Amino acid sequence: MSNAAPTTLTIRQPDDWHLHLRDGEMLKGILPETTRHFARAIIMPNLVPPVLTGADAAAYRDRILAAKPDGSKFQPLMTLYLTEDTDIRDLRAAYEVGLIKAVKLYPAGATTNSASGVKDFTKVKRVLENMAQIGLPLCVHGEVTDPEIDIFDREAAFIDRILDPIRRDVPELKVVMEHITTLVAADYVRTSANLAATITTHHLVINRNHILVGGIKPHYYCLPVAKREEHRLALRRAATSGDASFFLGTDSAPHIDALKEHACGCAGCFTATNTMSILAEVFDQDGALENLERFASLNGPAFYGLPANDTRITLTKGAEVKYPEKIETGAGPVTVFDPAMPLHWSVS
Ligand code: NCD
Ligand code: ZN
Repeated sequence: MSNAAPTTLTIRQPDDWHLHLRDGEMLKGILPETTRHFARAIIMPNLVPPVLTGADAAAYRDRILAAKPDGSKFQPLMTLYLTEDTDIRDLRAAYEVGLIKAVKLYPAGATTNSASGVKDFTKVKRVLENMAQIGLPLCVHGEVTDPEIDIFDREAAFIDRILDPIRRDVPELKVVMEHITTLVAADYVRTSANLAATITTHHLVINRNHILVGGIKPHYYCLPVAKREEHRLALRRAATSGDASFFLGTDSAPHIDALKEHACGCAGCFTATNTMSILAEVFDQDGALENLERFASLNGPAFYGLPANDTRITLTKGAEVKYPEKIETGAGPVTVFDPAMPLHWSVS
């Protein structure tokens, strides 16, 4: 007789290794959605204007801490936005005092608020060499912006044209390929040294049909855009395998509904609210609940050289769990990602 599948699961408290918290009223409105379940998060620096210097990162960290719900021990892990003018001394100083945990590379024009990103990758080589020396990881948005390249091929082209040359130039640099969406990226990451990848919740659940079939679904539009089913399945194999190269970065990216449901809608899925329930459902479906802790709570800190959290959360399987459709913020309503399947795992 086989053992019954578990109905409760206690794991170390998870962290989110790729999160957009925005600022002002949006920050205040959505931060509790993350602090409810997550202990720490790598905070993306693509504000307007971006988080460019140590002083910017310190001020943003303080705004996040001020917006935290009472009693929360949530720790924002700050990042700098890499530009062709990044000041190496400022970056090293911010790292040495423990203020920043990573630097983010956006190819200019690749995604939301990436206009100040990098155009000429030779211009950031000295910064990357310095980061490699001190062990400061680089998080990359892995898409080329060449208009000749089809949007569904931009991640694969990025590996060949930009990421692989950077890694050959600066082999000691620790790199996180953020929010991977393809089989090609999963295979590349699995077989490369000093390289890891974050995988989002939504890319484990949707493929491009979810965005386009039966009418356009703007709340499923994010960058990198979801790909074919074979790629979603490859991401699920990577995430549920427990392989140390893959960990959770939700890329939860709130935009108010008015800007998502728009003739030129913003990219981003908002998954902070229901991510842990969705992940438990996904890992349960794939018979891999024993690897959920690796993906959500252990592999990320190990790559970043941080301890795993001592605190724990318990997931319980039972009747269907419902989440709010929208989070009302002072900036406007934000639609919560719809996983298009019933969820049975609640978090406590
Ligand atoms: C992110 C955002 O809205 O800031 N959007 C997204 O679709 N993922 C930016 C990003 O991570 O690409
Ligand atoms: Zn993002």
